[in-house]
Amino acid sequence: MGSSPARSRETFGESMEDVKSVLEALRSEALEALNEISGPKELEDFRVRFLGRKGKLTRFLRGIKDLPPQMRPLAGQWGNQLKRELEEALASLCLGEPDSPETRLDLTLEGRPVLRGSRHVITQVLEEILDIFKGMGFEVVTGPEVELDYYNFEALNIPPDHPARDMQDTFYISEEVVLRTHTSPVQIRTMEKQRPPVQIVCPGKVYRHDSDPSHSPMFHQVEGLLVDRRVTFAELKGTLTAFVRRMFGEAMELRFRPSFFPFTEPSAEVDIQCVLCGGDGCGLCGGTGWLEILGSGMVDPAVYGFVDYDPEEVSGFAFGVGVERIAMLKHGIDDIRLFFENDLRFLRQF
Ligand code: PHE
Repeated sequence: MGSSPARSRETFGESMEDVKSVLEALRSEALEALNEISGPKELEDFRVRFLGRKGKLTRFLRGIKDLPPQMRPLAGQWGNQLKRELEEALASLCLGEPDSPETRLDLTLEGRPVLRGSRHVITQVLEEILDIFKGMGFEVVTGPEVELDYYNFEALNIPPDHPARDMQDTFYISEEVVLRTHTSPVQIRTMEKQRPPVQIVCPGKVYRHDSDPSHSPMFHQVEGLLVDRRVTFAELKGTLTAFVRRMFGEAMELRFRPSFFPFTEPSAEVDIQCVLCGGDGCGLCGGTGWLEILGSGMVDPAVYGFVDYDPEEVSGFAFGVGVERIAMLKHGIDDIRLFFENDLRFLRQF
C-alpha cells in the first residue's frame, strides 16, 4: 500500500504552488459541501468524504510523506490548518463529530441539577386568601387592569374632583382611562351584569403612584362583595373575623375601627394584634399594639343607583385586602420591594 512518489506527484504536482492549489480546490469543495448540510445524515457523509479514514483531506495528509522532504513541513502545516478549519466548521453546526471522544456519552459524569421553579410568595398568599373565601362560598371574578375612570371612581360614588381621589395616587392613561387603583371596579362590572345575590372576590394587580418600603407602584388586592336581602354588619364582622383567624391563627385578636370610604357607609378598617410584639406596642405597630390590614364597610346605597339595584330591597358589604401587606405580616418581611426584585435568595425561602 502507500502511494508511490510517482503517484504523489500526480496528486500534488511538483511545486508548493501546486500543493497550494490542490488544497484550495479541496477547501472550496468542502465549504460548498458544508453549505449543503441540513441534517445528521449529510453531516456524517461530509465527515466521511473529507475527514474520514479514506477522506480526501486524510489522503492528502497521508500522502505528504511521499513528497520531496523540503516540501513536507509546509504541506503538513497547510493541510492540518484546513483540517482544523473543517472540524471547527462542523462543530459550529452544533452537531459535533459523531462518535468522537468529545461527544461520546460519558456515564461517569455527574448530572446537572435541574432548577425547580415554585410559585412566587405573593401567588402563594393570594391563593391562600382566595381559598379561605372560596370556602365561605365566594366566587372568584377578574377584570381589566386598564380601567375606565367611570368604573374605578364614578360608579363607586367618587365623582370628579372628589377629594377621595387624592387618597389613591392615580396613573392616568387619558382623562377617561386609568390604571385601576383597586379591584373594586370589578364589583361594579359584576353587579351591572348580574342580579343579586352576588358573592364574589376579585383578585388582581392594582397601581398607585407611590413607592417606599411599604408601598409599591404595583401591588395586589383581593376585594370582596356580598349583596343579598337583609345582609347586616354582623355578617361583615363574622366573615372578616373568620378570614383573619384562618389566615393568622385562631387566637388572633382583631378590632373594627370606624373609617371612611366613599363607596361604603358605615365603613371600618380592620386591625389585627401586632404580629411582632403581640399587642404590647413596638416600632412596627407605632406603639399602638395594632396593625391595619384591610378596609371594609356596608355598600353605600348610592352605589346601587349606578347598577340598578334597589337599596330598599338589598344590602351588602364589601372589603379590600392588600396581598403584599398580608404576606409581609405573615412572613415578617419589612420591605415590600423584596417581592419584586426577584432575588432567588429571598424567593427560595417560601
Ligand atoms: N377599595 C378600597 C381601597 O382599595 C378598599 C375597600 C374595599 C374599602 C371595599 C372598603 C370596602 O382602598
